[in-house]
Amino acid sequence: MAIKKQQIRTALTHVMHPQGDKDLVTLNMIEDLVVQDKFITFTIDLPEKNPKLENTLKEKCREAIHKFVDKDAVLDITTAVNISKFNKQENGKAAFPGQGHRQKKQQKRDEPEEVFPGVDNIIAVASGKGGVGKSTVAVNLACGLARTGAKVGLLDTDIYGPSIPTMFDSHERPNITAHKKLIPLKKHGVHFLSMGLLVDPDQAMIWRGPMVTSAVKQFMQEVEWGELDYMVLDLPPGTGDVQLTIVQTVPLTGAVVVSTPQTVALDDARKGVAMFKKVNVPVLGIVENMAYFVPPDMPDKKYHIFGKHGARELAKRIGTNFLGEIPLEQSVRESGDSGKPIVMEEDLKSKSAQAFVELSNNVIQQLAIRNKEQAATEKIDIKIKP
Ligand SMILES: Nc1ncnc2c1ncn2[C@@H]1O[C@H](COP(=O)(O)OP(=O)(O)O)[C@@H](O)[C@H]1O
Ligand SMILES: [Mg+2]
Repeated sequence: MAIKKQQIRTALTHVMHPQGDKDLVTLNMIEDLVVQDKFITFTIDLPEKNPKLENTLKEKCREAIHKFVDKDAVLDITTAVNISKFNKQENGKAAFPGQGHRQKKQQKRDEPEEVFPGVDNIIAVASGKGGVGKSTVAVNLACGLARTGAKVGLLDTDIYGPSIPTMFDSHERPNITAHKKLIPLKKHGVHFLSMGLLVDPDQAMIWRGPMVTSAVKQFMQEVEWGELDYMVLDLPPGTGDVQLTIVQTVPLTGAVVVSTPQTVALDDARKGVAMFKKVNVPVLGIVENMAYFVPPDMPDKKYHIFGKHGARELAKRIGTNFLGEIPLEQSVRESGDSGKPIVMEEDLKSKSAQAFVELSNNVIQQLAIRNKEQAATEKIDIKIKP
């Protein structure tokens, strides 16, 4: 049965503030409650920063919801410092247990749980437009990186159009650890998860933006990713609020932007690059997918059906690296549909398999340059309002 917001509020009335005799709901500390299926997110507002108390309260809230509502509920609890709210109560007197003179002047949002704590490099694969081969590139890049012996993760954040379950031919539901964390699946040497494994895309279609971003946040935080050299994120297509929020929630090491050579796709790719620059995420470069067509019976022929070198020239124009061109080959589509990405081809015979190996090497190289020259990307914590 679907979980109701009121059930959650009632459960939280069982959580008492450790320094008083009132519960969190009575103290008006719970904000931004969103419930969708088994995903529950809310914020605990506090009058001042207190990491120890925050952890205790989060743990107690978790326990109460698992005990009184649903033992399988997946929670994303954030804490936030909200001085003005508590100052307004009871004529500005310290209405809050433990609240005293140590008030800070400015309202400050608190750091949420760390995203991907054991991951060295987080790479977002993005495109302005859908259907340009973003997932194909993400999947082959992840497998290409794993081919080098690296530990690699792949997260499909495209809730409305998840394609990784098909591209990996894996549809089983992930297991959950004793600590209620999801365990990623593993195939072709890549640890992966997709929203498509947990949420029915038809149902997700009606989700509003904030619901999508909070579900994606859970996917990053409530998963046992372990220690990884690379994490590849397949972002949803476009440069709207959802993409922007994901990009700002994760301390991305860099972004790979996928485009086809057509003008319409290039315009959107330019917007994609601009989005990352706006939020100070280094753009590792642009990949040109479907750069030219290779007929299966004439593997040495090249037909530039969508135009020639469009993405390469765009990269040059906007001062971004060009990471490589992937041919349009029937085998790429077939391998995507059959669950074995083309870069896993044993003999690397096809042009596209070779192109993906080259792409992976270029990404490794650009990451090395980026990590040498620039500091880690700062994450901006955005408050998600329901
Ligand atoms: N280089 C390519 N050659 C042949 N087919 C491709 C190529 N790139 C992508 N495709 C096919 O095009 C379709 C859309 O690709 P996909 O990666 O799902 O795009 P996106 O994630 O951008 O929506 C898929 O069927 C995929 O197999
Ligand atoms: Mg896709």
